[in-house]
Parts: sequence; structure tokens; C-alpha cells
Amino acid sequence: MKNHYSILGWLTKLLVSVIFVSFITCMIYYQKLPYPIAIYIQAPFQIHDLAKSSLPSSLEIQFYASPNKSNISAVVIRDSEIPKQTQLNHIVFGIAASSHLWNHRKDYVKSWWRPREMRGFVWLDKIASTNSSTSDDDHFLPTLKLSSDTSKFKYKNKEGDRSALRLTRIVSETLRLGLEDVRWIVMGDDDTFFVADNLVRVLSKYDHNQFYYIGSNSESHFQNIRFSYNMAYGGGGFAISYPLAKALEKIQDKCIERYPELYGLDDRIQACLAELGLPLTKEVGFHQFDLYGNVFGILAAHPIAPLVSLHHLDVILPIFPNGNQVQALQRLNMPMKLDSAALMQQSICYDKARNWTISVSWGYAVQIIRGYIAPREMELPARSFVNWYKTADESAFAFNTRSLNKNSCQRPAVYTLSTAEYNNVTNQTISHYAHYKNPGHKCEWKIADPSLIRKVEVYKKPNPFLWDKSPRRNCCRVLPSEKKDTMVVDVGECREGEIIEMYSAS
Ligand SMILES: *[C@@H]1O[C@H](CO)[C@@H](O)[C@H](O)[C@H]1NC(C)=O
Ligand SMILES: *[C@@H]1O[C@H](CO)[C@@H](O)[C@H](O)[C@H]1NC(C)=O
Ligand SMILES: *[C@@H]1O[C@H](CO)[C@@H](O)[C@H](O)[C@H]1NC(C)=O
Ligand SMILES: *[C@@H]1O[C@H](CO)[C@@H](O)[C@H](O)[C@H]1NC(C)=O
Ligand SMILES: *[C@@H]1O[C@H](CO)[C@@H](O)[C@H](O)[C@H]1NC(C)=O
Ligand SMILES: *[C@@H]1O[C@H](CO)[C@@H](O)[C@H](O)[C@H]1NC(C)=O
Repeated sequence: MKNHYSILGWLTKLLVSVIFVSFITCMIYYQKLPYPIAIYIQAPFQIHDLAKSSLPSSLEIQFYASPNKSNISAVVIRDSEIPKQTQLNHIVFGIAASSHLWNHRKDYVKSWWRPREMRGFVWLDKIASTNSSTSDDDHFLPTLKLSSDTSKFKYKNKEGDRSALRLTRIVSETLRLGLEDVRWIVMGDDDTFFVADNLVRVLSKYDHNQFYYIGSNSESHFQNIRFSYNMAYGGGGFAISYPLAKALEKIQDKCIERYPELYGLDDRIQACLAELGLPLTKEVGFHQFDLYGNVFGILAAHPIAPLVSLHHLDVILPIFPNGNQVQALQRLNMPMKLDSAALMQQSICYDKARNWTISVSWGYAVQIIRGYIAPREMELPARSFVNWYKTADESAFAFNTRSLNKNSCQRPAVYTLSTAEYNNVTNQTISHYAHYKNPGHKCEWKIADPSLIRKVEVYKKPNPFLWDKSPRRNCCRVLPSEKKDTMVVDVGECREGEIIEMYSAS
């Protein structure tokens, strides 16, 4: 009889252990249960009966037992594999595309898409029959999806295109795919370039369990008047938190019917979100680029916020000279890899020996200007671009700008990124900028001509945590250089008491 009991006891122990271990394993696998959680086990077994080796090492468990060990509780304190912070794989991209432009525009998507790390779909009206012939590309692109039919919906806008209806429904169609572990649905166009790591940085600041609608306005004041300052412009991209997407999906088809006169996908989304009472949460790193020409002025004086997106890549000039837009975007790959948080962040400093103003847009371009220009002016984008309403003047932008050529002496010498690398001894990035544009020749000032400088080297320690702090411009310092034609600049967090000072106080 005694033997019987001990076998029974042993079996109970085994059973309980198996259940316990499976439970924890399932929990980790599906990452669904909130934690810390407590599991109470009332069974005649010892703590060390739990085979520790069968538990994933990422799990930290604390055991509590009553003195007679009849009641053991295990509390999962932390699972390092359950990410608290939003990561790239929590995002599903919905890319609005059309079959007649896809062959050309897919190169834009390819320039930022990371196939193994990202989830998302390109939504098309027709999927070209070149399914297998373009298979080379397919590995580097999101999965193509056919939008469902929208011919039953009314569309009454005379200037727009009824494909807007199809594209508006990307949010609900994405949701209905039922993907696991989605925190955000991010919309963009086929001519939108995303800096994915910065998108993650921006979204991880917000609680994805709440309703959020995150994006930005147009650069054109008139566009914002015509559509809305409360609207996230679709091409600049916007993010909708998962619970909000669920709420939107419930009302979307009926809501779309209430606004047949609207123009596009973004105003339809905003109209429905307004019915839910949702405001736009503005993040200025999303760039719609309702502009023509050269966006240099904006990229050289980016707001102090992570650069998230660039849009209208067919409309604006290539962001780097000498080459097409795709090649230009590819040039951002290296600085993005080295220090994505700092990409196109502006630092301003002065070469006091030569009376020059220096502006560094990290990973993009450096400018040297004769004389001293105050930070409050240098931080404004120079008008290198033209408004979406081409005849509009400088008052038609939705932000402050400054004149590009106030006088011929203060036209900048411009240097654009050529290469960048990481030095693993000094733990710094070195980015090289090559002379691209001379300042005006007709200057009679006695100040030295900045175009004497042919190359600029910028040293900077990468800082992935830049945006975890309150936003602040990095400082730059002109370092001594051995070569006459080379300027060496150090960029980094401002030191205690360091300010962007035009004149020495001496
Ligand atoms: C063991 O302790 C629990 C409470 O901690 C008590 O309910 C139970 O009766 C005890 N069992 C024995 C065999 O003492
Ligand atoms: C077992 O322990 C837990 C946590 O300490 C307690 O909440 C529970 O009431 C206990 N059960 C018994 C029967 O003592
Ligand atoms: C493309 O090919 C895959 C298999 O290679 C097939 O499953 C899919 O349906 C095809 N898509 C189209 C639109 O033909
Ligand atoms: C810089 O400016 C100061 C004051 O404006 C002037 O005295 C000095 O000569 C200038 N230096 C050079 C190198 O131009
Ligand atoms: C630095 O890089 C070199 C070459 O890639 C490598 O051999 C070396 O081990 C690295 N040193 C450190 C400290 O990482
Ligand atoms: C560079 O980083 C490595 C590893 O984090 C560290 O051991 C080393 O001291 C750093 N070197 C400098 C110059 O900061």
C-alpha cells in the first residue's frame, strides 16, 4: 500500500510539474498574458521538483512556499523576451499603391523595406501578371495584396480619383488579416520613404493600448486650409494604434458613405476619426513634402524631432546631387545604420578664427556661411523649395522660413555626405562631406571665402537614446585641422554650460 501511495504521489508531482511548465511555456510563446502573474499550486511537491532547465532562461520566476510546502506560488517577475517597448515587428505597414505606377515606385519601397524585420502589404487595384518574372524583387518587397472591390461606394469629388475609396479601406482590410501582436498600423504611399528606426522611436513614446492617430500636416498652409490642420497627410504617413484601428474598422464602411464628396484617403480617415472624437497627435518628423524643387532647406534645418518619412519622391528633386532619387535615398543607408536617431539633426557652431557660421545636418550636409548668423535664424529652413501652389509667396508655408540668399556674401558653401564609417577604437562615427556648391563670388567682405574648404569631416558618438530625453539640439565644435582644405567638426550632446555662442565673451 505504501508503495502505491508513493507512486501516486510521484505521478501527481510529475503531472503538476508538466502542467506548470507547459503553462508558462505557452504563456511565453503567445506573449499574451499580462505580467507579473501569480500561479498558485497546492500539491505535495518540492520547489526543486520543477526542472529548472526546462524553463526558458529569459524568464525570471520567484517562488514562495508556505512553511509546510503545501502551497507553493510562483510569480513570473519579468520575461526579457516580452518586449515592453514598441519594436519594428509590432508595426504593420499598409502601403497605398496603384498598378500603373508600381513598377517604377517599387524601387522607392525597396530602398527602405527590410524584408525579414518588417511586416506589411502593398495594396493594389490590379496585381500585374508578371508575378514570377519579377520574383527577384519580391524578396525585397512587402507582399502585394489586391484591394477588395469598392464600386458600390459613392465618390463625388470632381478633382480626385475614386481609388481613394479603395485606399481608405487599407486600414480595415489590414486589420481583417488578423495578424498577431500588432500595436500600430502605419499607412504610407508607394512614394514614401520611411526611416523605420525613427518611426519606432516615435511610436514607442505612446501607449499602443489607447486610441492614437499620429502624423503631420502639409508644408503648404493653403493645403492645410483646404483639407485640414487636423488631418495627417497620407503620403507623409500616419500611424493608427491597434485599438483605434479596430474601432475605425467597425464604422469605416458606413462612415465612407457619409463623405462621398471628400478627395482622398487621408481626409476620409480623418472624417471618420473625427466621428470617434479623435484629434491628430502631431509628430513633425513625418514629411508630406507638398513642395516642388529642392527640399535641402528643410533637411538642412530639420525640426528637433526624429526624421520619420519623406514623400513626393517623384516631385521633389533627388535629395542628393548627382544621381536619381533612388540612388540618393540609398546614400542615407550608411548614416541610418550608424546613428539613425541623429539623421539630419542640425547642429550650429562658429569658426571664430575665420568668422564663419557652420551648420551640420548630420548624415546629410554641411554649410559654411560668411559672418555670424544667430541660431534662431539658422534653425529656420532656407527657401530652396517652391510651394505646392507655385505662385504663392513665403507667407504660404505652414512654418517659418528664411531667405536663401539674403545677400551674395551669405550664400552658403554646401558640402554633401560622401561616406560615413564607424571607428571601433574611438567609438565614433566619421562622416565625410564633399564640396558641392560655392557661395556667391560677388562678395566684397574681407572675410575669408568658405569655398577654400573642400571637405568636412564630422566626428560623432552614436546615441540611440537621443530621443529618450527632452528634445535638444546637439552642439558642434570646430576642431583644429592639419589640412588647409579640410574642416574637422565634432558633434555631440552639449556639455555642461555649453551654448551656441556667436561671439567670445572676452
Ligand atoms: C500547511 O499550511 C497551510 C497554510 O499555509 C495549511 O492550510 C495546511 O493545513 C497545512 N498543512 C499541514 C499538513 O500542516
Ligand atoms: C496559497 O498562497 C497564496 C499566496 O501566498 C494565497 O493567496 C492562498 O490563499 C494560499 N492558499 C492556501 C490554501 O493557503
Ligand atoms: C503569385 O504567385 C504565388 C505563388 O508563387 C501565388 O500564390 C499567387 O496567387 C500569385 N499571385 C498572383 C496575383 O498571381
Ligand atoms: C572677424 O570679425 C571681427 C569683428 O567683426 C574682426 O575684428 C576680425 O578681423 C574678423 N576676422 C577675420 C579673420 O575676418
Ligand atoms: C575593430 O574592428 C576590427 C576590424 O573590423 C576588428 O578586427 C577588431 O576586433 C575590432 N575591435 C573592437 C574593439 O571591436
Ligand atoms: C569603446 O567601446 C568599448 C565597448 O563598449 C569600450 O570598452 C571602450 O572603452 C570604448 N572606447 C572609448 C575610447 O570610449
